[in-house]
Amino acid sequence: MTPFELYNPTKLIFGTESYLRISHEILEGAKVLLTYGGGSIKSNGVYEAVMKELKNFQVIEFGGIEANPTFETLSIALDIIKKENINFLLAVGGGSVIDGTKFLAAAALYEGDSWDILKKGIRVTKALPFASVLTLPATGSEMNSGAVITRKETGEKLGMGSPVLFPKFSCLNPEVIKSLPQRQLKNGIVDAFTHVLEQYMTYPIGADLQDRLSESILKTLIDIAPKVIFEPYDQTIASNFMWCCTMALNGLIQKGVPTDWATHMIGHELTAKYHIDHAMTLAIIFPNLWRYKFENKKEKLAQYAERIFNVNTGSTEEKAEQAIQKTLEFLHSIDVKTQLREYTENYNGFSDEVKQTFETRNWIALGERKDITPEDVRKIVEMSC
Ligand code: NZQ
Ligand code: ZN
Repeated sequence: MTPFELYNPTKLIFGTESYLRISHEILEGAKVLLTYGGGSIKSNGVYEAVMKELKNFQVIEFGGIEANPTFETLSIALDIIKKENINFLLAVGGGSVIDGTKFLAAAALYEGDSWDILKKGIRVTKALPFASVLTLPATGSEMNSGAVITRKETGEKLGMGSPVLFPKFSCLNPEVIKSLPQRQLKNGIVDAFTHVLEQYMTYPIGADLQDRLSESILKTLIDIAPKVIFEPYDQTIASNFMWCCTMALNGLIQKGVPTDWATHMIGHELTAKYHIDHAMTLAIIFPNLWRYKFENKKEKLAQYAERIFNVNTGSTEEKAEQAIQKTLEFLHSIDVKTQLREYTENYNGFSDEVKQTFETRNWIALGERKDITPEDVRKIVEMSC
């Protein structure tokens, strides 16, 4: 196990009554900007429930933060924050609204061009306090300090992060799942599943507890996936789903272990170019990244095959091969398509574009062993077409 520090100050408030805590958690006298997305919160009752708790605060609303939040939209919100002297942000939505709000929290106190935070990878040292009311279990953004923002003008989708960007608190009410369309439920399962894999499918390092924690999240997600996606709402299933998604990316399982994240970096290019939902881009890339980096990952693949899919016979290589096969079967069983051609016809030349983008950004050594070059990325994308 490698040395690590664990820091996560987000207060998580879980359960159907969680919104009742909102007014107690925000400092008295705060002037709040309530941020939200395209309007789902106005039709599923979440908006009314949250506004009721904010009745003693001055609240300004900013709606319209799109899926894959854009710098362009957020710049409008940033002007409002400055003009209105907003001192607390409350994100009510999924990963996009929460990520967008993290950007706003950072940009509000950043002197200079706020796009530099993303473009130059600046780790901001101060931010406005903010919190979230999660409406879509998937990203883990409610309990981590990262965000991903798109710039429409340039077609870039870039990540940012800083220890000052953890939400002060996050309310997780599993009932929000009731209004989620099947597409978003699927996204949630696959995004959380891949988050675990990015931190697990590397090489053995003797981190037994982290491995077992990761495996328990993977196993739980596989077990509940068909119920979450295809069956009517069930409080117990929904609670397990929501908690798995948070645990998959709140920092805990990545402590002391190597991590990959190349799938996410490549996946973001698929969203930037084709507007494919984030989670689906991951399902397109990671099985092929595993095949391409088979030698690097075969021990962990075999361990995963044994512990998750009960594959107990065969060599390490045979078990590892089974791991890929069974994972694809799982994805297909929940109706997730795993090749780019199933999402777009216009994929010719895309692998070269991605290679070039990665070269320009100097992303030349990705993966847990820092041995994935832009040419490797090209080949992985080619295999994924
Ligand atoms: O905008 P509204 O009207 O709210 O509709 C949203 C949106 O259209 C809808 N939705 C959300 N909650 C709902 C609901 N519809 C009905 N009922 C509800 N309760 O769902 C749609 C998608 O929402 P979005 O927030 O975009 O989805 P998700 O949570 O999957 O977030 C995706 C974004 O997060 C980034 C992704 O790149 C992408 O931009 N990620 C953030 C991460 C992080 N901060 O740690 C890590 C992830 O790997 C990911 O990269
Ligand atoms: Zn993700």
